[in-house]
Amino acid sequence: MLPMPVRMFGLLSLAFCSTLLWAQSTQQPSLQQAYASNFLIGAALNSPQILEKNPVEAALIRKEFNAYTPENAMKSVNIHPAWDRYNFAMADSLVSLGLRQKKQVNGHTLIWHNQLSAFAQQIKDIDSFKTFFRDHITTIAQRYDGKIHSWDVVNEALEEDGSMRKSIFLEKLGPDYVTEAFRLAAKATPQSELYYNDYNIEQPAKRQGCIRLIKSIQDAGVKIDGVGIQGHWHLGRVPLKAIEESILAFHALGLKVMITELDIEVLPRNFTGADPSKRMTADASTNPYTQGLPPEQLSQQAADYAALFKLLLKHRDKVTRVTFWGVHDGQSWLNNWPIRGRTNHPLLFDRSLAPKPAYQAIIDLRP
Ligand code: XIL
Repeated sequence: MLPMPVRMFGLLSLAFCSTLLWAQSTQQPSLQQAYASNFLIGAALNSPQILEKNPVEAALIRKEFNAYTPENAMKSVNIHPAWDRYNFAMADSLVSLGLRQKKQVNGHTLIWHNQLSAFAQQIKDIDSFKTFFRDHITTIAQRYDGKIHSWDVVNEALEEDGSMRKSIFLEKLGPDYVTEAFRLAAKATPQSELYYNDYNIEQPAKRQGCIRLIKSIQDAGVKIDGVGIQGHWHLGRVPLKAIEESILAFHALGLKVMITELDIEVLPRNFTGADPSKRMTADASTNPYTQGLPPEQLSQQAADYAALFKLLLKHRDKVTRVTFWGVHDGQSWLNNWPIRGRTNHPLLFDRSLAPKPAYQAIIDLRP
């Protein structure tokens, strides 16, 4: 028989341990905790979120996500509004938020034909355009070297058939501009990982174009670390087979793969992808869920997200990050594209920041 104080201590510590275990088993992990041993879970942040304007939302973002992408703050139109003027304030705020909270920050994006500053669009002279291209990449990438993890160096350089997009960059600089952008970025920010980012590159023809593009960068001896599949998909139509084929194909080139702009929208759309220049006209049928998403669609969305995450978990050795394009439905860009002023419901949190069934479905999948 053990002496009384020892027995008491034993009983007490047993009680303490079982209380702790109970507390742990009833405590739900956050998204980032649930996936901690698999891949990062990120979100694109808009300016009020970067500035932590809403404390409840700020706490939710900090709890659920471990990677941040600026939704608009680092795009040319905002960060480089005039030839000799940069506006780093919001981008700096995001970078310091990331450093403070130990979150991985991904820069989005150095070279993109959309949201390109008006002054850049108006440059006529080829040499001046070359100077803009070099200075833009170098100035921004150098500023954040060692402070941010990675850059979407080039965004959306491909057409749907896999050929080079007929953008201002192709027109002024020729097809090697993508390799040149990576070369300049690698020089300016040797500590960052460098990615190519695009939508629909899960689809076979565009995937082939993407593979050609990546190989041309690699063949030139220029560094590229990963490829981001944007992931703007539609309820009931997530192309799982094509996504898997692309993950395997990009990984076979020695690259990390990310889903960088994930949302599963629920509203009618007559085309796929995410080309901001494409619009649709509104009619009586194009905005059906202004009063909230009905249970049937909520369950379908949960099933879609679960199937996608099951696939991503299968390839956790290749997929390094999954970033949602926004935190909650109320802020999603899909409320205003391809039709302005609709009520879309593509994300894991609703307009009151409550988790939707899709959130639970993703958490429940964790290994
Ligand atoms: C979107 C933003 O979410 C909107 O706020 C902005 O008005 C337009 O751009 N592909 C991309 C993202 O790479 O940068 C886009 O973001 C969505 C499509």
